[in-house]
Amino acid sequence: MNDISPFSSGISILEITYVVTSVLFILGLKMLSHPLTARRGNILSAIGMGLAIIATILFHKKDGRPIGNLGFILSAIAIGTVIGWVIAKRVKMTAMPQLVSFFNGMGGAAAALISILEFPHVSSELIAKSGMANGHVLAILLGLMIGTVSWAGSMIAFGKLDGWIGDMRIKVMKFVNLTILAVLIGLIVFIMTRNVTSSSELMPLIYILFVIAIVYGVLFVMPIGGADMPVVISLLNSFTGVAAAMGGFLYSNQAMLTGGILVGSAGTILTILMCRAMNRSLLNVIVGVFGGGGQTNLAIGKSVKEISVSDAAVLLSYSKKVVIVPGYGLAVAQAQHLCHELDKLLGEKGVEVKYAIHPVAGRMPGHMNVLLAEADVPYEQLIESEVINPDLPNTDVLVVIGANDVVNPAAEDDPSSPIYGMPIIKARDAKNVIVMKRGMGKGYAAIENMLFYDDKTKMLFGDAKVTLQNLINEVKSL
Ligand code: TAP
Repeated sequence: MNDISPFSSGISILEITYVVTSVLFILGLKMLSHPLTARRGNILSAIGMGLAIIATILFHKKDGRPIGNLGFILSAIAIGTVIGWVIAKRVKMTAMPQLVSFFNGMGGAAAALISILEFPHVSSELIAKSGMANGHVLAILLGLMIGTVSWAGSMIAFGKLDGWIGDMRIKVMKFVNLTILAVLIGLIVFIMTRNVTSSSELMPLIYILFVIAIVYGVLFVMPIGGADMPVVISLLNSFTGVAAAMGGFLYSNQAMLTGGILVGSAGTILTILMCRAMNRSLLNVIVGVFGGGGQTNLAIGKSVKEISVSDAAVLLSYSKKVVIVPGYGLAVAQAQHLCHELDKLLGEKGVEVKYAIHPVAGRMPGHMNVLLAEADVPYEQLIESEVINPDLPNTDVLVVIGANDVVNPAAEDDPSSPIYGMPIIKARDAKNVIVMKRGMGKGYAAIENMLFYDDKTKMLFGDAKVTLQNLINEVKSL
């Protein structure tokens, strides 16, 4: 353990580095909140982490001796760096949530391993003074429980997002889960109230705590709908942060503490914001069943109107203002580059093109921002939904590309709809609406969308990539 306490009178190079690291983490996180600065923020935080690792290897001392097992440590860093680099380079944009979940799980596992390894090292002096009921032991046990739940839960979330683990929705599950949670907390209290002379006597109980926490992590995530995983991953992310912060307490390590607290609080805020943007409570995400229902019979007897590619090209080319609403289908079709090509072509013809960005369009936070940034769409063209909504009545054509729920007027009109109250892009306010999708498939909320039957709306059916390519060819030929 680190014997350089932040409360000791002398300040070491290691402590100064940890403070610098903490500042870099904070600045990096702040910059992550804006797409223009996000990349630099990421690099800044990575530099902070690199500094902390190098300083720990060089300056950390235990009982006056430098860090040991350097060969193992450097090999582990090298192997981890290569694997992480290759995975991150190869991952497809649509598989990003899985990757985040996997990396988050690794963080949880690391925090849990620290606890398992450090528990036998709780000093006998400390036990003689205050028994097992001290802050040191509590930090280890909470780190173990929370880190393990985060690891096990993230692995299940990863499997669900990748499609090889299905949902297990049994009503009794929430009671089973609550019971297991009570057992976990009871076990922590039991361990802390034992009367022992050495912490290693309690190792069997530590392994039992570890196994029960794995079971809890698995059963906690199993009943949650696959598409709700981004919210759950964000929640598990905050768990990992808290578990890492416990490690920071344990080692009196300011960088680990700050990093853990930042991840914990950022994950919690993101979870709340996602639930709010979807108009659902966290409890509903965790134990509820989402989707379907609403006034599904509204569309009966109504028919949609289609538009040909050439008519759509004419309508768009002779407009003054066009707004594109990207959604999950654009990401599925991987048509972001073609979308940007179309917007540039229209721009050359004097049409003003903007993108309306809904906070939960797609399947992960900032999905549309990332997707369009990949295609080099200038950030100034991306306008948040509440900012662009008042401008939609002056918009000649609104083009919906693979979006559905985020433009569904049921959010305003139908109190029985599961999305009622969710803020939407008010597509029907535009003068004309063109909707590009493959067929009449429903969105994530599995409900009817009356926008498609609106008098102003014309459907342009087909895979977004194919349709956009055809549209580009037509616009070029005009
Ligand atoms: P959705 O409502 O999911 O609709 C996507 C539409 O894309 C579908 O109706 C589908 O219709 C169409 N589509 C699929 N593949 C296509 C392709 N290759 N080409 C053209 N169209 C295609 O998407 P949205 O409007 O982006 O809304 C997102 C939903 O996900 C919201 O309900 C949100 O609450 C939820 N959600 C979001 C997040 C985050 S953090 N973003 C997290 C969890 C849940 P066809 O099958 O007819 O083509």
